[in-house]
Amino acid sequence: MNIATALLAVSLMGWHGVTHADTDEVARGQALYQSHCMKCHAISTNEVGPRHQNLIGRRAGSVPDFVYSSALKNSQVVWTEDMLDRWLSNPEALIPGQEMDVRVRSAEQRRLLIAYLKTQTAPAPPAPAGEH
Ligand code: HEC
Repeated sequence: MNIATALLAVSLMGWHGVTHADTDEVARGQALYQSHCMKCHAISTNEVGPRHQNLIGRRAGSVPDFVYSSALKNSQVVWTEDMLDRWLSNPEALIPGQEMDVRVRSAEQRRLLIAYLKTQTAPAPPAPAGEH
């Protein structure tokens, strides 16, 4: 093996390691979502709580056909990763008067849940092709 091949092999192994870790975290986040959140939520339908599709970057209280508390609806919060972390650790501290009586006390579990929810947020659609 010449030196270039050796370096390539090392960098491919490194890349593979990172990808594998990410996939693993998303899978663990998904399992937590299923056990902790799906009592009340689903990704693509409203249940007791609003659907979570495209959550990251969305205004709090903005799913049009879900009836929110006025506290959440009027909160002006945008669901960034940081805001979700604060919400999941203590919803009432972030938005007093909200109606989700659930706390995720483990920072690690919050991180995994958010990693999973990110994968359920579609990237911005491609710019329309320049047809008239
Ligand atoms: C016991 C039912 C219940 C459980 C369990 C629950 N939620 Fe909720 N969730 C709600 C309700 C109800 C609301 C709407 C609250 C309001 O209107 O004030 C909500 C709102 C939310 C919102 C705001 C969404 C938006 O459109 O603004 C997020 C984010 C959220 N939940 C995440 C989660 C996650 C992640 C979990 C799992 C750790 C979870 N919830 C578990 C009931 C629940």
